[in-house]
Amino acid sequence: MQALAHVATLARLAAFAAALAVLALLGVHPAIDNGGGAARAMGPLPACRYDDILTSPRGLGDWKITLVDTILRVPRSYAPRDLVRVGDLGVPGRGWVRSVMADDLKAMSEAAAAAGNAIGIQSAYRSYADQETVFAGWVARLGRTEALKVSARPGHSEHQLGLTVDVRSDPPVATLLNSWGTTAAGKWMRNHAWEYGFVMSYPKGKSGITCYSYEPWHFRYLGRELAATVHASGLTLRQYLWANFTTTVVPAVTPKPTAKPGVAKTPHPSVSHLPTATSAPTDTPAAPPTAPTAPPATASVTPAAPSDAPPTAPATLPPPTAVDDGDALAQVAPVGAAAAAIALGTIVMGGLLLGRRRGRSGVGL
Ligand code: DAL
Ligand code: ZN
Repeated sequence: MQALAHVATLARLAAFAAALAVLALLGVHPAIDNGGGAARAMGPLPACRYDDILTSPRGLGDWKITLVDTILRVPRSYAPRDLVRVGDLGVPGRGWVRSVMADDLKAMSEAAAAAGNAIGIQSAYRSYADQETVFAGWVARLGRTEALKVSARPGHSEHQLGLTVDVRSDPPVATLLNSWGTTAAGKWMRNHAWEYGFVMSYPKGKSGITCYSYEPWHFRYLGRELAATVHASGLTLRQYLWANFTTTVVPAVTPKPTAKPGVAKTPHPSVSHLPTATSAPTDTPAAPPTAPTAPPATASVTPAAPSDAPPTAPATLPPPTAVDDGDALAQVAPVGAAAAAIALGTIVMGGLLLGRRRGRSGVGL
């Protein structure tokens, strides 16, 4: 009898433990924390460094709370499916943005114009490939150390989320210069963007936290509720998302790379110099690059080619609910020879088509 009682007690304990485990799992996605505190942080905010860790959450549906920075990235294949053309919204400028921000972008543009501070879009969605070109261009222009302060490596840019716009005045004045922040349009955006769901990702004096130089033109869309919360918190977006939503485990130091033959990885930058609050230029000569279409490997002048061509064909995109867990190319399943030939043909054709569409992102930072 006593043995039976022990078994029953053990069973009850096991059930209790299992229930706790389930609750812990369910608790992984926190709700919006209006206090802005570090209620769910996976430890303290990592110090600025360069790494290539997949961010979580990163589903296309997690758009409000996905954090990318110099450490965390999305996969090469991450590409929104609901891009709409900025011009089709009646907003001056070029590029494509996720439809989730369409109404608020339009409203913000109209409000800015009504206040006498008309704005336009200099650069919006940038695919992984676009960012490769842009980043390589800045490396060619500034050298890698300086480029890393102002341009995200591919996979690490908020522009790849389709939720970020580089805003300029309309007509353009001091575009992509730090001094744009002191123009009427720049000031209007700094004071009012949050009311329309946008936050400045890299504010002045915060480079030691954001890991990038001051960019008064670069705004990330979060939706009005979360943008108001982040604005009220006084935290940078990186701090807020890390503290409240990011579930990625980031090791204290970058692990030594292990050789994996045949798997192409984003190369780790060899430099460790990072921007600090005092290193942000006061009026960076961040004039946009002028020579479009240069491919990353040969870019000797600079990045991105402006164009209004439509974004990448949906056939190349991952399923909407499950953005892949890594570099898609490393996870290709075996296929038959015929299927492989068809796929190759499709890729070649797609490449030819995409070649004509390159540079849809516009010149930006
Ligand atoms: N200029 C920002 C950091 C980007 O490249 O996304
Ligand atoms: Zn930008």
